[in-house]
Amino acid sequence: MKQKPILQQTQSKNTKKRILTGDRPTGKLHLGHYVGSHANRVKLQDEYECYFIIADLHTLTTKPEKTADLKNNIHQMTLDYLSVGIDPQKSTIYIQSQIPEVTQLAVIFGNLTTIPRLQRMPTLKDVMRDADIQIPSYGLLGYPVLQAADILMVKGDLVPVGKDQESHIEVTREIARDFNRTYEVVFPEPKPLIGEIPTLPGTDGAVKMSKSAGNVINLSDSAKDVEKKVMSMYTDPKRIHSTDPGTVEGNPVFTYLDAFGAEADSSQIARYKDQYTKGQVGDIEVKKYLARVLNNFLDPIREKRAEYEKKPELVEKILKKGTEKARIEAQKTLAEVKKAMKIDYF
Ligand code: TRP
Repeated sequence: MKQKPILQQTQSKNTKKRILTGDRPTGKLHLGHYVGSHANRVKLQDEYECYFIIADLHTLTTKPEKTADLKNNIHQMTLDYLSVGIDPQKSTIYIQSQIPEVTQLAVIFGNLTTIPRLQRMPTLKDVMRDADIQIPSYGLLGYPVLQAADILMVKGDLVPVGKDQESHIEVTREIARDFNRTYEVVFPEPKPLIGEIPTLPGTDGAVKMSKSAGNVINLSDSAKDVEKKVMSMYTDPKRIHSTDPGTVEGNPVFTYLDAFGAEADSSQIARYKDQYTKGQVGDIEVKKYLARVLNNFLDPIREKRAEYEKKPELVEKILKKGTEKARIEAQKTLAEVKKAMKIDYF
């Protein structure tokens, strides 16, 4: 009698689909990351078996000399993950470079895609422009191949990413298909899961937040810093006096209010929008309200972060355990790959 629930339990465990996504450890996460991706990840943790990769090897593709900050960046990013609610009991957080199997898979995959295919990637052009690179390295050209290895190494079914990463998932699907056709069926064809929430604008009104533009609010910013950044935010440039009718659409102050305050108090936001349009409320009052809304949202995140900051050895243990777990999956997959390719000699 007691066996039945156990059986059911293992079955439901096996039917959980797998998610793989991650970030390059370039620094602290900001509100744009949260809205575009991490909020979604937190929600998906119960329904899916989640793997979150910290893709340090991918940072080498544009900045091979900048390795000194990686360790600290990885620590900060893990603090960000944990403080927004990624639960290490449910999800696996791991470090790419500590899994050698991933690079072997990337070498194998490098033969299943062509140079022109990689040269056509829209992301390649963007990255070269942003990083002021004239001629791409072999590694930069191969960025999507390494990403395919990340995803297929754990046999990810779904990959929640921003719209800009969609083309990389397409290459991953092509590689999976080609591998399965050439050798044996080993891989699922992972699907992208694109966030529905539009990109959060920068505090300067730019289309998106980016560290290099200095227009970000970090998840780890202090309440004072948040207030300072909000008070100097870009709003409606045509509005000079608080009695001038203002524009709400495309005004980042209201975009942020919708993204972070609507759940708590949508009627107050609606009131401010109405008053703003009619010239009945000043920018300062709305900004003060936004700073409060953001700080209310960030307070529990800050608290959690402070707890983990006191225990760096716990954070390290979470990463180590996660990496060990992911590595077991990687070894399993690579063994299957070699068998399918008939290069499993010993
Ligand atoms: N390329 C991704 C980015 O820049 C980071 C990344 C590396 C990734 N490996 C991945 C994302 C695997 C999803 C799946 O955001």
